[in-house]
Amino acid sequence: MALDNVDFDIDGITADGARAIESAASTEALNQVDIEFLGKRSALTRAHRTLGGLDPETRREAGRLLGEAQAQLKALLAARRAELAESERAEALLADRLDLTEVIPDQVRTAPARGHLHPASQARVELEDVFVGMGFTVAEGPEAETDWYNFEALNIPPAHPARGMYDTMYLDVGEPETVLLRTHTSPVQIHLMEAAVRDDSLPIHAVMPGKCFRLDTPDARHLPVFNQIEGLVVDRGITFGDLAGTIQAFTEAYFGPGMRSRLRPAYFPFTEPSAEYEITCTVCLGEGCRTCSHTGWIELGGCGMVDPAVFAAVGIDTDVSGFAFGFGIDRLAQMRHAIPDMRSFLENDIRFLSQF
Ligand code: PHE
Repeated sequence: MALDNVDFDIDGITADGARAIESAASTEALNQVDIEFLGKRSALTRAHRTLGGLDPETRREAGRLLGEAQAQLKALLAARRAELAESERAEALLADRLDLTEVIPDQVRTAPARGHLHPASQARVELEDVFVGMGFTVAEGPEAETDWYNFEALNIPPAHPARGMYDTMYLDVGEPETVLLRTHTSPVQIHLMEAAVRDDSLPIHAVMPGKCFRLDTPDARHLPVFNQIEGLVVDRGITFGDLAGTIQAFTEAYFGPGMRSRLRPAYFPFTEPSAEYEITCTVCLGEGCRTCSHTGWIELGGCGMVDPAVFAAVGIDTDVSGFAFGFGIDRLAQMRHAIPDMRSFLENDIRFLSQF
């Protein structure tokens, strides 16, 4: 019921408020509407203040109507608030949603692409896996060695012509000792045998991967810094047949079945008899093949039965025998992936490296 004798319009205020509440598009806007229609300066509050000046009858009626109007607006506000909260939560959920199936194109991707191990390092890891699978342990030795470990203990005395096989980079020549960058991983054999004698822990079945250094000019199959994996077995009753069988099993495990390999008689001062381990050139271009110098075969390393002079140098005098091998890891990786020129490993060309 409307009151004629008051100077405020309750129905008008209620209608305005209801409209404003209905059209508030966000919780924030609704808060403004709340202040505007129910706050201290709202028309309703102002109307309340005028009640005191009215006659008792009108005051009671006007008070009741104002109370009703206030309750009605509050109820509308609460309903609208709940409605807005619900739709705002739904919107926020939508905006926050993670699409785990989304593919981000390279042009949009801001994080740098993830790298991976160099192919030679990958080969090293794979070779370790193959040999560990065959029962070998993995050992390491220093890259800087004394003349004793790199040469003398390996039956290569100072004036021995075999030193000519290694273009050695020396760090310190003469007294008290000559120190050099190891030219092969064979000195790690000496460290392992010395330790086994010291700890009385024979037998040895170990592979020893690592960097080697020679003053070689880089070419299709040589690098001045390269990687070898040495192998050493010292046990009772070890024969050349064990060596050949191990190399055959290794060849199939690393290259897959069907790879042709051979052991060709050779000479190393620290093995007797000795052989070179070769496989057929996997990139062979026949007549003009620069990779294998058109021989059809690639040498991957040397091997043989541990020379008694080496056992004598480390003080092994028990009834054991052994075999050793040293393979070029980079060369193995080169043949496995049919890479014509080993220098590709050094060029850091992402188009090459990203293929591995
Ligand atoms: N150390 C030899 C080399 O680097 C390879 C080799 C290792 C030969 C073990 C025989 C036994 O050329």
